[in-house]
Amino acid sequence: QKRTFVPAVVVGTGYGSAVTALRLGEAGITTTMLELGQLWNKPGKDGKIFCSTLNPDSRSMWFSRRTKAPLDTFLWLDVVNRDIGTPYAGVLDRIDFPNMGVYVGRGVGGGSLVNGGMAPTPKRAYFEKMLPRVDADQMYRRYFPLANKMLGVNTIDPRYLEQTPVYRYARVSRRHAHQAGFKTTVIPNVYDFRYLQREERNQVPRSALAGEVIYGNNHGKQSLDKTYLADAVGTGKVTIQTLTRVTAIRQDKTGYVLTLEKIDASGKVLRRSELGCEHLFLGAGSVGTTELLLRARETDALPNLSAAIGTGWGSNGNVMTSRANHLWDPTGFLQSTIPTLAIDNWNDPIHPAFAEIAPLPIGIETWASLYLAITASPERGRFSYNPSTDRAELHWGATQSNPSIATARALFDRINRAIGTTYRHDLFGGNREFAADFCYHPLGGCVLGKATDDYGRVRGYRNLYVTDGSLIPGSIGVNPFVTITALAERNIARVLATDLRT
Ligand code: FDA
Repeated sequence: QKRTFVPAVVVGTGYGSAVTALRLGEAGITTTMLELGQLWNKPGKDGKIFCSTLNPDSRSMWFSRRTKAPLDTFLWLDVVNRDIGTPYAGVLDRIDFPNMGVYVGRGVGGGSLVNGGMAPTPKRAYFEKMLPRVDADQMYRRYFPLANKMLGVNTIDPRYLEQTPVYRYARVSRRHAHQAGFKTTVIPNVYDFRYLQREERNQVPRSALAGEVIYGNNHGKQSLDKTYLADAVGTGKVTIQTLTRVTAIRQDKTGYVLTLEKIDASGKVLRRSELGCEHLFLGAGSVGTTELLLRARETDALPNLSAAIGTGWGSNGNVMTSRANHLWDPTGFLQSTIPTLAIDNWNDPIHPAFAEIAPLPIGIETWASLYLAITASPERGRFSYNPSTDRAELHWGATQSNPSIATARALFDRINRAIGTTYRHDLFGGNREFAADFCYHPLGGCVLGKATDDYGRVRGYRNLYVTDGSLIPGSIGVNPFVTITALAERNIARVLATDLRT
């Protein structure tokens, strides 16, 4: 079989990968990026690239006949999820393990295509606690500002926030938090808030105001395909192969050899091939990268990989909950899908939490306050390789979500007491008040300083690197993509200076 060889391969096109590919390209290194999902640039029959949460179709989910939105029901009715026809290479995937569903983006841009764009920088003390061997001074002086600039992070105009009906839901939840004695904070975002204001004035096509977010935004959001990846391809050195799954990695005399599967948008395997490279950067995300390395270790393709691969996984303590407001506290029927406020109770010594105030943009008044809380859960899961399915399996016990739920309960019980409100029981199935059995923020699996050295170099092998969220040990205290980006910038700067001198 004829095999192509390139100097550098980057697996995935999410945050870690996009940073790495841009810096490799700028250094003049010919780089191939391999992405499982599609390049989202062609409009469908409705003239739009992405579908909305209100009217999902096959573009919404990665090979599923039905949507798998985080809310199960509304008013206990099965109205949230929809049948979407023939399975297709859609943009949002939910990887279901026992007791934990992990949401990830699929396509050129990875999670940036489907996420809420929230771009907070972690509290320095917690960053230092989680990644003690990373020079925090350098991160906070250099790499966090760089990541923010490159990602196009911006903040809502405070006057707009105070008067617009599309953030009434955020202001109501903020007032309730303050009445209970909590602090709130404005969260920066990569969605262009000036665009949002023009949406409201009907000067531009609506996206955040048209229920678009977890199945992609047609406008307004500075996803990676518009920032890092556009710049990477612009170097003339970086190319992206889409609908290409890396299935295996091994080593030979020339370097690393990847086995690839090219699929079409219906999932049919069109061909299998091999690609060789000297330097290999893994940015397939926490689950994807961990699976590739575990498989390589357990099938003896890369037998010297560390026993730490597959360990240190966490959900960033994600837990969702919702409160039922009084009739005199409507949250608004037109809600921006882009969150902009959070309850910041991170300094609580027993129950630290950072709870983003989330929209419930279904076009009618719901009187619901919805939250995605990030908690400092100490629980960690681990992956093992199942040879009969050839997949990595996450071991996460049902009780491992309890610390996150206890923290969220402490916070929201206090708000409910202060306001005289209750939890909603109609949203998460089984009359539950809290849902901590899914996450948006999978982190860990190939932890920095454990499975890799302090710069993401995989232990036991030269010229093999991890660049993505799997480096972060399960928790970072805020929404994670700015941290993933900044860490990738720091690591590739070192690797370019020492391993890849050009
Ligand atoms: P990421 O997951 O972004 O990219 C990995 C890429 O690799 C994917 O494109 C995938 O298809 C590809 N891949 C995987 N396996 C492969 C294989 N075998 N071969 C080839 N390609 C492969 N964070 C935040 O900071 N603020 C927020 O507001 C939100 N909101 C949010 C909402 C939703 C719905 C989700 C799902 C997630 C968020 N997040 C978030 C989380 C954030 O998006 C996430 O942390 C980052 O995208 C992770 O970046 P990585 O670089 O680790 O990989």
